[in-house]
Amino acid sequence: MELDRLGSEKLVKERMQKYSRDAFKTSLFGEKIAVLCGAQGNKFIFKNQNELFARWSLPSLAKAIYPDLERTRCQEPKASFDNFQYDILKPDALKKYVPVMDSLAREHLETEWRVVEALPSTKKYALSLACMIFMNRGDLDHSGDFLKSLSLLTKGILSLPVNLPGTTLNRAVGGGRVVRRELLRIVQERRAAESEGEDLLSKMVVATNQDGEYMSDSTIVNVFIGLLIGAEYELSSLITNVIYYLAELPHIYHQVFEEQMEIAKSKGPNELLAMEDLEKMKYTWNVVRECMRLTPPSIGGISESIAEFTYAGFTIPKGWKVLWTPHSSHMNSNYFPEPEKFDPLRFEGSGPEPYTYVPFGGGPRMCPGRNYVRLVVLVFTHNLVKRFRLEKVIPNEKMVFSVSPAPASGLPLRVHPH
Ligand code: HEM
Repeated sequence: MELDRLGSEKLVKERMQKYSRDAFKTSLFGEKIAVLCGAQGNKFIFKNQNELFARWSLPSLAKAIYPDLERTRCQEPKASFDNFQYDILKPDALKKYVPVMDSLAREHLETEWRVVEALPSTKKYALSLACMIFMNRGDLDHSGDFLKSLSLLTKGILSLPVNLPGTTLNRAVGGGRVVRRELLRIVQERRAAESEGEDLLSKMVVATNQDGEYMSDSTIVNVFIGLLIGAEYELSSLITNVIYYLAELPHIYHQVFEEQMEIAKSKGPNELLAMEDLEKMKYTWNVVRECMRLTPPSIGGISESIAEFTYAGFTIPKGWKVLWTPHSSHMNSNYFPEPEKFDPLRFEGSGPEPYTYVPFGGGPRMCPGRNYVRLVVLVFTHNLVKRFRLEKVIPNEKMVFSVSPAPASGLPLRVHPH
């Protein structure tokens, strides 16, 4: 299987046509993988997440990011902090950050958007915002080393598990070391701080489980790396793809513009957005959802089967890896008529059938960042259309898939102030 096409629409479509619409077997990194397809496949995996499937990291990911994952898991057997990251990313906890998101989006568009390549620019925005909101370190991205190292680390995620000098994985392991060292320093500084801060890092440093145990530094660093990667890569891919479709489809841009200007007119000139304003952005949110249907920012999820199971006539032995992908249901015309068509209205009313629309996955491992994503994308889109009309420099820029899907040349744009 070609690595940079893992999870891509073409690959899943071809294999489903060749083998079966329900499931197919393949191999990757020397691992045997069963790919379960469609809404039924999604449902089966999401419902059996803990009973049949365990978390599994790609070998390259584990080497680069979590060298001590097994040790920290073993050392903290009762300290099940997994749900902590879900609590800190709930809408109620995030509400107070809407004005922060708005103010940074204003500043970013004001200062950075002259001649623009959307992808690197949205990466910078998403990473600054995450560092600011999660650990009150909006200045982190200014240290070139951290940003560069995070980028090297992420590129290693889908790389071949060959750690020799000059390989992508080797650079990722080096990048991972720098990122871990920097984050560890920040965690330790925070532990030593006299006063309790308000941000997510401060809350993690003092949180205990039911047995009164604190999270180890290493666990906190692992959680933060996950958050930063999600924020920088999948989120910037989504924002870039939203910009791509808005620039491509003037009638969609127009309706988003109308909705956002209604909201802008209801605010004072310097008044920042609040959660109530975001609740009014219904059409814009449907546009974002349609972007995620057509170009899912995540390839899906891989787990390891912890017991033999049978699905759609296949018997899958214990130890096999199992993959679900959003494409297999997002592009199915039974669930989404005319699946190639960009149509935000398909999300109106009761919306898609359960398990058919799964950009964030489902079940116990559903993306904990999804509420954060919604707020950030809506706030950014509000500021973008309020300020600019968009024109693509490359009319038919191809999409490529590396860690997340993105326009091949980073989506260069001409922006025209209103
Ligand atoms: C458009 C943006 C994003 C999309 C589409 C997305 C999608 C996903 C998907 C599909 C999963 C895997 C679920 C599974 O394994 O079944 C996941 C996991 C995860 N995401 Fe996101 N994500 C996005 C952004 C974010 C952001 C911004 C954060 C952090 C703030 C984040 C944090 C995480 C974490 C920590 C996990 C691991 C959850 C676990 O294994 O329990 N994601 N995400």
